[in-house]
Amino acid sequence: MSAGSTLQASRVALRYPGAAQPVLADFDLDLAPGEIVSVLGPSGVGKSSLLRVLSGLQAPDAGTIAVDGAALDGVHPRLAIAFQNPALLPWLDLEGNVAFGLDFKRQPQLSRAERQARVDRAIAEVGLTHARHLRPAALSGGMAQRAALARCLARQPQVLLLDEPFGALDEVTRADMQALLVQIVADYRSAAVLVTHDIDEALLVSDRILLLGGAPARTIGEWRIDLPRPREDFVAELGRIRIEIVGTLRRATRPH
Ligand SMILES: Nc1ncnc2c1ncn2[C@@H]1O[C@H](COP(=O)(O)OP(=O)(O)O)[C@@H](O)[C@H]1O
Ligand SMILES: [Mg+2]
Repeated sequence: MSAGSTLQASRVALRYPGAAQPVLADFDLDLAPGEIVSVLGPSGVGKSSLLRVLSGLQAPDAGTIAVDGAALDGVHPRLAIAFQNPALLPWLDLEGNVAFGLDFKRQPQLSRAERQARVDRAIAEVGLTHARHLRPAALSGGMAQRAALARCLARQPQVLLLDEPFGALDEVTRADMQALLVQIVADYRSAAVLVTHDIDEALLVSDRILLLGGAPARTIGEWRIDLPRPREDFVAELGRIRIEIVGTLRRATRPH
């Protein structure tokens, strides 16, 4: 096990009951503190399955996952997962929904004051202090995704696991959310695994991109992006990586 990784997966495999073949095989990941890794791949390849395994929601059939070197054996208080659908509870206001993130299994007991401080900080971080008493029905799509992120942040996650969280948003809101993600990971000294099928999103936010392909899915390409953010000024460099990614995807999906 390498020192210094905040989340590590080693030779992880997953097979759903009754399925002819595994959905994942031999997946490895070393996530460093502060790092944003995108997992890119076509629809149905196994990205969501991978994220559930990394989050402890689903046990792998083989391999190991470790947080700070300790084996993961179920949900972990410092791993927070957000899905494409923000899944807010309609009867709670935004503040109530964010506080709800602190009631998951295995969360540490917090004093009332600390609980409130965490909720306040998380809501401020995503820029929703003005909306804290609104119910989900009164939030735009972008605001709802911010609320879902705040619910993760209240847990002061060591690792954020994000499953296509911005997929349903318009272009401008999406760009704002991508910038917010980079900001959040820095402010909370966290790290993130971002699952996406959007190559440009991966290029704009990640330190590293893993491309999943094949059945069972495995890492078929990996790119490190050592460019400062925001990345809009690096169109030529990003374009070159983009071409490589698309080429790798094409080779992987071409019929033999
Ligand atoms: N709970 C489940 N039980 C059985 N098969 C599943 C389950 N979840 C996903 N799968 C199958 O695993 C494969 C990968 O799905 P998924 O991880 O959702 O892919 P992605 O997120 O990349 O679109 C698909 O063939 C899907 O039908
Ligand atoms: Mg998915």
